[in-house]
Amino acid sequence: MNHVVLIGFMGSGKTTVGKALSEQLHYPLYDTDIIIEMMEGKPVAAIFETDGEETFRRYEKQIITELLNSREPSVIVCGGGTPCYSRIIDLLNECAVTVYLHVSPDILYQRLKCNIEKRPLLKNKPNLRKFIGELLQQREAVYNKAQILLNTDALTPEETAEEIKARLSLLLHK
Ligand code: S3P
Repeated sequence: MNHVVLIGFMGSGKTTVGKALSEQLHYPLYDTDIIIEMMEGKPVAAIFETDGEETFRRYEKQIITELLNSREPSVIVCGGGTPCYSRIIDLLNECAVTVYLHVSPDILYQRLKCNIEKRPLLKNKPNLRKFIGELLQQREAVYNKAQILLNTDALTPEETAEEIKARLSLLLHK
């Protein structure tokens, strides 16, 4: 089996689905944001503020490369922007099974509007709904390169994990 990598916009449920999936598959779970926060000893928002986004993107690439090099299969949860820089999506598709958790922009907006503090990209946006729609549209060109595309609007995290598991066995037994 391969690593399974969850990608998708902020608020798409990657972390919650990742936990359910790692339990169902009995794989260890790694979350790039959490690893970077532990490595740097500060939250993502503080890293953006003091070191800048470019530095954060460099950390993401470094962590992803290390995780993909591990022989033990794992569930890897990416930050929303991780696959969109330095052609990381191609690296992920080469070394893992990638899963895009698609959530419609209205639902993302409802989830994210009360959860801005931890997410530096969403701060001080005069029209948050519009910003989310535009950034999602821009990033979907990358997200849609994933090997498994799932619309999760109507699914619970457990149902999403079960669907991923079913799609993984179809993919791996092709
Ligand atoms: C980001 C998403 C965040 C975090 C950082 C940047 C992005 O992760 O990596 O704030 O560029 O979309 P989540 O998707 O877990 O919120």
